[in-house]
Amino acid sequence: MQPEFIIIHQEVAPYVAHIQLNRPKELNALNLELMAELRDALKALDADDNVRVVIISGNEKAFAAGADIKQMAGKTAMDMYNTDQFSTWDTIKKTKKPLIAAVSGFALGGGCELVMLCDMIVASETARFGQPEIKIGVMPGAGGTQRLTRAVGKALAMEMVLTGRFISAEEALRAGLINRVVPVELFLKEAIQLASEVAALSPLAVKMAKESVLKSFDSSLEEGLHFERKNFYLLFASEDQKEGMQAFVDKRTPVFKGQ
Ligand code: HXC
Repeated sequence: MQPEFIIIHQEVAPYVAHIQLNRPKELNALNLELMAELRDALKALDADDNVRVVIISGNEKAFAAGADIKQMAGKTAMDMYNTDQFSTWDTIKKTKKPLIAAVSGFALGGGCELVMLCDMIVASETARFGQPEIKIGVMPGAGGTQRLTRAVGKALAMEMVLTGRFISAEEALRAGLINRVVPVELFLKEAIQLASEVAALSPLAVKMAKESVLKSFDSSLEEGLHFERKNFYLLFASEDQKEGMQAFVDKRTPVFKGQ
């Protein structure tokens, strides 16, 4: 079935897929249906050997202005509990392939949280990041208090979460929240360029490297180092390791097959 709220571009570059959030009139507010479509699309792309990196974007005006407030407004705590919307987010979090967020305009609330769930973030100069939930009587619920704090530190995270202040792309770059800022007409092109760079590498090494970096967020140093080492050893079981190292010795460009 064709998704209603997202557009899937299968091959914007070799091994690179692009999912565009597509509720432009609502500034891509993340209703439950959109999130379910995103989850299903990512699951399919994660299993597709022709895809190595996935870009998620909105449009120039908005990446996403948050969870759909109109859909949430009348809910009770028990409705929220029974809906269990975060199981969708938990599945998205398990995507093994790298996710690159291409952000222009608003990335607010759940939008900012979705951006932070991605592995690298390319922003246009017009991007605005924020966790304004406090202004509507709630607080971040999809990782905002945790991932933002880990990315930018306590001072700025606390200010953004407690006041709802938006930060510009430049401030986000300085704070370490995002990877790069480019003129608005280039944000998607830049994301595709970055994705292509990663997609040319061994997809096995890339997935294990992603997994290992993420491990650092919820493990002790010793545990993380142990995890890293196991993945490092494991890659020596791959043809890509043989190909990568032999190509270096032969002074040629390696061709990685993901095996
Ligand atoms: C539902 C939204 C929306 C949202 C915008 N719209 N954000 N609808 N949920 N989060 C709708 C508006 O109602 C409006 O529809 C249309 O999109 C355009 O928005 P405007 O407000 O007219 O645009 P503008 O004046 O440019 O202001 C942009 C804005 C503002 C600053 C981004 O829309 C805004 O403050 N939005 C809410 C941001 C927010 O609080 N996000 C956090 C949500 S809670 P109509 O039909 O009126 O034209 C959250 C929890 C996450 O994310 C945890 C769970 C995942």
